Amino acid sequence: MSVAIQPASKPMTLPGEKLDASKMPGHWLLARMGKRVLRPGGIEMTRKMLDSLMISHSDTVVELAPGLGATARLTLQRRPHRYIAVERDAAAAARIDRLIDPERDEVIHGNASSELLHSEECDVVYGEAMLTMQPPTQKHKIVREACRILRSGGRYAIHELGLLPDDVPERLKDEIHDAISEVIHVRARPLTVSEWAGVMNDEGLEVDAETVHTSRMHLLEPRRVIADEGMLRAARIAWNVARAPAARKRIFAMRRVFKRYEQHLCAVTMIGVKR
Ligand SMILES: C[S@@+](CC[C@H](N)C(=O)[O-])C[C@H]1O[C@@H](n2cnc3c(N)ncnc32)[C@H](O)[C@@H]1O
Repeated sequence: MSVAIQPASKPMTLPGEKLDASKMPGHWLLARMGKRVLRPGGIEMTRKMLDSLMISHSDTVVELAPGLGATARLTLQRRPHRYIAVERDAAAAARIDRLIDPERDEVIHGNASSELLHSEECDVVYGEAMLTMQPPTQKHKIVREACRILRSGGRYAIHELGLLPDDVPERLKDEIHDAISEVIHVRARPLTVSEWAGVMNDEGLEVDAETVHTSRMHLLEPRRVIADEGMLRAARIAWNVARAPAARKRIFAMRRVFKRYEQHLCAVTMIGVKR
């Protein structure tokens, strides 16, 4: 199912546009402030992930949860045979629909855990900053579904929030889960690097250690914001945040939590190959 394309003259609505800044999910609040890159490792980790995926002109590529389309743009520049997006948010799906060639590509407004595509239909699947916010059973369900739609030998990349070190005490894990969930207003359940690899393995994907990369969780650090968004947009974001007290309060609270647990948080990407 392709979503209806809004006329080019009509400004695109942002996800969560009508929600109250004090209650809305953190990622849509950042989007309202002008942020477009909403994944923990930023655009640098995204590029590393796309390079490792080695997308070719013959690949059918599925992006789970493209959000505002920052990675969709990079993937489309690589001219895959076909690009398919699966996005749960209607406004986000409509934005992606504007980027694609409707003759060749497709945007599906739906849940990544549902059977929306045929078995073994694609060569590459990836998703960023979307599994972290799923409960454990749903994480497995989405990874299982990604594996089902991949051809044998196909690649599935994730880019998510990770916990450090692998033996981080359970009590601290719970504390971090609760602290992040409270500030972003979404149940966030990051996993350790080996737990993420374990989910992939459990669902039929083999993770090559060489594809595992981690970086610091600096989503809201000024240097990263500039690297991700460019100087101009970063300045606009700072201006928007300065003028919106409710949003500012929440974004500062998010940043404080990310800083408090800095030693135990990371961005992680890895690729699983379908056996
Ligand atoms: C934090 S944003 C990340 C967006 C984008 N991937 C990025 O990194 O900038 C999370 C995205 O996941 C989408 N999402 C969450 N759960 C989903 C699901 N089960 N199926 C499809 N999309 C989902 C949300 O609508 C949102 O676009």
